[in-house]
Amino acid sequence: MAFPEKLRAELEQLCTKYPDRKAGLIPALHRCQEELGGWISPEIMEACAEFFGMEPVEVYGVASFYPMFKLKPTGKHVIGVCHNISCDLRGADDVIEHVCKRTGAPVGGNSPDGKFTVEVLECQGACANAPMFDLDGTYHEDLTPEKIDAILGGLS
Ligand code: FES
Repeated sequence: MAFPEKLRAELEQLCTKYPDRKAGLIPALHRCQEELGGWISPEIMEACAEFFGMEPVEVYGVASFYPMFKLKPTGKHVIGVCHNISCDLRGADDVIEHVCKRTGAPVGGNSPDGKFTVEVLECQGACANAPMFDLDGTYHEDLTPEKIDAILGGLS
């Protein structure tokens, strides 16, 4: 695949910020994920490899290392529930169970209607307001079943 012209121009501009072009790979993967369907497909990895003069396996190595990069299609909304110690002590298991029940998505999977992906995350640095989840890049904290219902019920 070839990057859309506008995205390619943006990535070229992005690379001028770094002394080594390859240092632009991570921000480029973010932009590709945002612009090209919400996940990093093998075709996107190959396009990035060509763009950065790397081997596809090197791009895969980076994309697969960071959990913020999705290597399979996700639902329209991605819910990452923290399950580290502070959130665990304040009910992360109940949050996960409630979110899965409410969305119909299993942990690590998508809901049958394609609307939701549920995953578990390591500490997000919001321990003081545990339990929490990240919904499409926005933190929601001090979660209760009622609060979760209100948040998810407001999504289109
Ligand atoms: S343990 Fe959940 S935000 Fe830190």
